[in-house]
Amino acid sequence: MPQRKWFLWLAITGLIGAVFFIMTLIQSPNTLCIETQTITQTRTRTRVSEYYNPTTIQLKAILHYATLRVVPQQSLSEIKISFDVLKSLGRPSNFLVFGLGHDSLMWASFNPRGTTLFLEEDPKWVQTVLKDAPNLRAHAVRYRTQLRDADALLSSYRSEPACSPSRAYLRDNGACKLALDNLPEEVYETEWDLIMIDAPKGYFAEAPGRMAAVYSAAVMARGRKGSGVTHVFLHDVNRKVEKVYAEEFLCRKNLVKSVGRLWHFEIPPQTNHIDVPAFC
Ligand SMILES: C[S@@+](CC[C@H](N)C(=O)[O-])C[C@H]1O[C@@H](n2cnc3c(N)ncnc32)[C@H](O)[C@@H]1O
Repeated sequence: MPQRKWFLWLAITGLIGAVFFIMTLIQSPNTLCIETQTITQTRTRTRVSEYYNPTTIQLKAILHYATLRVVPQQSLSEIKISFDVLKSLGRPSNFLVFGLGHDSLMWASFNPRGTTLFLEEDPKWVQTVLKDAPNLRAHAVRYRTQLRDADALLSSYRSEPACSPSRAYLRDNGACKLALDNLPEEVYETEWDLIMIDAPKGYFAEAPGRMAAVYSAAVMARGRKGSGVTHVFLHDVNRKVEKVYAEEFLCRKNLVKSVGRLWHFEIPPQTNHIDVPAFC
């Protein structure tokens, strides 16, 4: 009888042990799975946070364009030119944009940790845009030119020493009408990696025209002290003034891309400071 009790006790213990063993086996893959999942999730989370870390301006841009009924003026293939340059630079850049428009939040969000600064001719429009997008950085700019003077300015600037390519400067250069002489200090002090000229207005005689913007962009680019080139984008090159001024100051030899109505120039810094008769 005691032998049978022993046997029963051993059998029950064995059975419990077996159940525990089988349960461990069954649970193991799950535990492993859960751990793998957790590791994968953590890794994914790390990877996501590394690459998907939108800034306020980018979130604002998504909301803005998801609800906007107006389409910005540049076409997709034109926009892609500056987008690709910003991407290829691979670092926060200094991006100067002439004009505030429906595309402004887009430019700023392409350069999320960089400096994107807008120069706008119409002070009221600056206020309107900044009311909706206060994290854009914009200044009102006073132009001293009118589109109707474009031909005269082009033929006379060479006889004005203050406009000469070897001595050209902007700040307080009242003598050269093409120089934007009264910009905020920040504009002169920053070395701009990209300059987008999509303003001021240049489609009626009294409008400022883009002559001073093109000239001033050329002076800024040629004065670059750091390494590399300045990327200058000019929109509306289907118009005579934009085309002629680009050829005079930004130079055909620096033109690297032409898409739709947009020209992309890569302007090297001017290294030799000997007197040169022309910008190109
Ligand atoms: C030729 S437009 C370029 C606009 C920009 N590329 C865009 O797609 O919206 C340049 C100028 O037009 C004016 N402008 C643009 N959009 C405007 C608007 N909705 N209302 C008033 N002025 C505007 C600003 O003075 C601006 O600097």
